[in-house]
Amino acid sequence: MRNNLFDKPKDVFLDLVDPKEYVQLERIATIYQSLSESVKKPLKMILLYGKPGTGKSMLLSKLYKDLSSAQKVVLYQSPILDDSEFFRSLAKDVYQFTPDNDINFTTFMTLTDKFIHSTVPIVLLDEAQLYSDSQMEKIRLLSDSRKMKFVVSLHKTEKEDIIAKEHFQTRIWESIELMNASPEELKIYIQKKLMKVNCFDIANMFNDKNIKTIFALTEGNYRDTNKLLYTLFQILSWYEENQPTKINYATISNKSIEMAALHTGLIHA
Ligand SMILES: Nc1ncnc2c1ncn2[C@@H]1O[C@H](COP(=O)(O)OP(=O)(O)O)[C@@H](O)[C@H]1O
Ligand SMILES: [Mg+2]
Repeated sequence: MRNNLFDKPKDVFLDLVDPKEYVQLERIATIYQSLSESVKKPLKMILLYGKPGTGKSMLLSKLYKDLSSAQKVVLYQSPILDDSEFFRSLAKDVYQFTPDNDINFTTFMTLTDKFIHSTVPIVLLDEAQLYSDSQMEKIRLLSDSRKMKFVVSLHKTEKEDIIAKEHFQTRIWESIELMNASPEELKIYIQKKLMKVNCFDIANMFNDKNIKTIFALTEGNYRDTNKLLYTLFQILSWYEENQPTKINYATISNKSIEMAALHTGLIHA
């Protein structure tokens, strides 16, 4: 049996956060540049925010990968909600030190004086909207002590909500917002993803009308786009296997995009 033409492009759109799969888009590259410059400056906190699916975790994982060869950097992909566990993890991951006793904020602060790094360690906190206000306050105090730098990533639909939060009002040195792709960026995103795995013919199957349809359905959200295209290729793969005569290999039909949208719940029947 020959390989199904659509299985490889399908897997391209698995919703995974893997820095190896990072795609360079002009706007994201500019943001990444300013983020990686910010973490080098003697600053306090950096706030990375944006709606779900705009690429925050992807950006953090890329930053982690790029920095880790040169300096101490720690990435927590999900929050450690227990205070003592949080500081225990920091002690272990930042200082390679396992405390004998229970550790709290005060004992952790005394630790930070004992371990000196030539460059200030960077701690990347993803999904930080889940930390309590009191935990956030301790994180802020740690940043103020300049013993470590934090990049805090938050999901929020309303920008105002976050900025209004007390600890972000005066303390945040810089805030960076990630957004959905524009139609042009969406086209480049899809094509670059496919070309990364040498699916040039498949990339060519997407015309501007397809992109317009995908954009209308996903508003340029990367996660929704991944889900939609994964399902689209799943459908095409089924046709290739069962009814190949029905496939137009020159272009993607908007009908199949709409079918995929129904399956993923982006539109309702
Ligand atoms: N720059 C990028 N390059 C490649 N894929 C990306 C990029 N940004 C986002 N994605 C894709 O979009 C999906 C959603 O991004 P993610 O970082 O998880 O968003 P968020 O953390 O903001 O919810 C990821 O699984 C990834 O596949
Ligand atoms: Mg995320």
